[in-house]
Amino acid sequence: MVRPVRGGLVSHAPLSIVVLAAGKGTRMRNGQPKVLHPLAGWPLIRHVLVTARSLEPDRLIVVLGPAMDEVAAEVRSSAADADIVIQDPPLGTGHAVATACPQLPPQGAVLVVYGDTPLLTRSTLERLLSARENAGAAVAVLAFRPPDPTGYGRLRFEGDELVELVEERHADCRLKSEGLCNSGVMAFDATRLPTLVGDLPLRPEKREYYLTDTVAQAVARGWRCRAVEAPWAEGLGVNSQRQLAELERLWQRRRRDELLDEGVVMPAPETVFLAADCFVAAGAIIEPYVVLGPGVRIGKGAVIHSFSHLESAVIEEGASVGPFARLRPGTVLEAGARVGNFVETKAARLCRGAKANHLSYLGDATIGAGANIGAGTITCNYDGFAKHRTEIGDGAFIGSNTALVAPVRIGHAAIVAAGSTVTEDVPDDALAIARGRQATKPGRAAELRTRLRQAANGHGRS
Ligand code: UD1
Ligand code: CA
Repeated sequence: MVRPVRGGLVSHAPLSIVVLAAGKGTRMRNGQPKVLHPLAGWPLIRHVLVTARSLEPDRLIVVLGPAMDEVAAEVRSSAADADIVIQDPPLGTGHAVATACPQLPPQGAVLVVYGDTPLLTRSTLERLLSARENAGAAVAVLAFRPPDPTGYGRLRFEGDELVELVEERHADCRLKSEGLCNSGVMAFDATRLPTLVGDLPLRPEKREYYLTDTVAQAVARGWRCRAVEAPWAEGLGVNSQRQLAELERLWQRRRRDELLDEGVVMPAPETVFLAADCFVAAGAIIEPYVVLGPGVRIGKGAVIHSFSHLESAVIEEGASVGPFARLRPGTVLEAGARVGNFVETKAARLCRGAKANHLSYLGDATIGAGANIGAGTITCNYDGFAKHRTEIGDGAFIGSNTALVAPVRIGHAAIVAAGSTVTEDVPDDALAIARGRQATKPGRAAELRTRLRQAANGHGRS
């Protein structure tokens, strides 16, 4: 196959990508598979798979360990076209690639990425692939200079030639002080890869086959190796909770900067949390301390006031949220709709200009255009077994502290009196009052107070 790719070169190569994720991630210390830990609301491996797929590989293979069903399910949902290969037992990164090898076309390029290295970008991977192709190298290694190189393998050069990858425990002081580290990402000539991974020594200290040893293997055969330096953040891997938190910080900073550059208004960006797939249009305003979870879309001119928490919610142009609002999945605020403080919504659509400004729960509900939901209104959507819908017509007015017992429909322009418990549909233009009638007894307050005081004193003497 001939296709134009990667820096304008023409590649005659099918591209295969192998994602390694068979490791147990014991250094995370919580028993969870490492690659399922969330970064910006996505499992680590989804970041890697999405980036991998953006290169449009001919083959995408994910190497998993035995009994990693949850990870396999995540792989299938993130990249339906990926094939899963099981490495049983996992005997190191070199062994992982050797396990995938029989599934790979024997021509073209093979890109190996680790499932725990989520900040990689497509353009950096393209740069690595072209560097290998241009040099006709057997192996190209993506290197980087992290602020703290502890734990990473190092690159050893003789003159300008990359000759070896040295794991930190084997590196001497001089090599360690170089600071140029192995990101784990490597590009291979597919025809030479089986030889390289077929010949790896078993490393006695961990009883593993290291993929990094392919460099020395290639050099021993007189095959050339290349290194390409990545922006340092892209090479960072996650091995511990601390590193995960550090990567979250870096990811968030990168995404916030992108949004600011695109014209989103964020006066305190460092306090705003953004999920990987959330979309914010230019001109939207995100106030301090806002969480935009997965599946959030915010239109231009919308305002998200402080301390609001949104998940899978669509906020259209000019709508406003919070402060202190919680918008749960399935919420849609059409243009100009408003949800104010201490309002929770779930599977609720507020049509154009509808308002729920204070202290409400709106679940499984449609609120018509321009309707007004008074403070303390609750849609009683759950009877302990099933969820039911509340439909509120355009221009309806729901008085404060109303309980709408679903399923129930409030007609267009209807008015529901404050304090009502509505169990029956209210027709268009009707007024519904569903509360106990008020009884007012003149003078009875003073009388009652006297009686209560006497009773209390009598009680004190006995
Ligand atoms: C590895 C590199 C190191 C590099 C670092 C970058 C080796 C020997 N060392 O070290 O040079 O600086 O990554 O982050 O490669 N995996 C498998 N099967 C296995 C073992 C691991 O699929 O049998 C997967 C893991 O799930 C993980 C990746 O390979 O996604 C890397 O393994 P890990 O144990 O994290 O390697 P590091 O010690 O970080
Ligand atoms: Ca690692």
